[in-house]
Amino acid sequence: MRNVSMLSAVFLGLCISGVTLADESKVALSPDTDTALVMARCSICHSADYIQMNGGFLKRANWEAEVKKMTKAFGAPVNDEEAGKIVDYLVRQYGVE
Ligand code: HEC
Repeated sequence: MRNVSMLSAVFLGLCISGVTLADESKVALSPDTDTALVMARCSICHSADYIQMNGGFLKRANWEAEVKKMTKAFGAPVNDEEAGKIVDYLVRQYGVE
């Protein structure tokens, strides 16, 4: 009996770590010329699912404000040129007009 519960404990542990891995690999932003830039700059503090979760209802002005908030308020390392590309990408892939 003891062995059985040991085994299920190990099994449960594997399941939990499996789920964690699956969640991370599921986060893939829509492929585009600037995906790598956005992934590099925008998944430092949180995963890219924050972008996906907000996709589909933000307009250009909202994405602009979002990128500004991330850089100015939270200190995301994004220069002005990159911010422009990132906003364009977000509007193209996750924006509504
Ligand atoms: C320096 C850390 C940092 C970086 C880099 C960063 N973020 Fe964030 N982001 C945060 C924090 C902290 C929150 C949670 C803010 C809150 O709860 O108000 C957040 C939340 C968000 C949200 C959820 C909506 C919101 O405002 O809370 C979105 C969308 C988002 N980030 C997009 C981005 C994008 C796009 C980039 C790349 C330009 C980026 N983030 C880079 C720190 C960061």
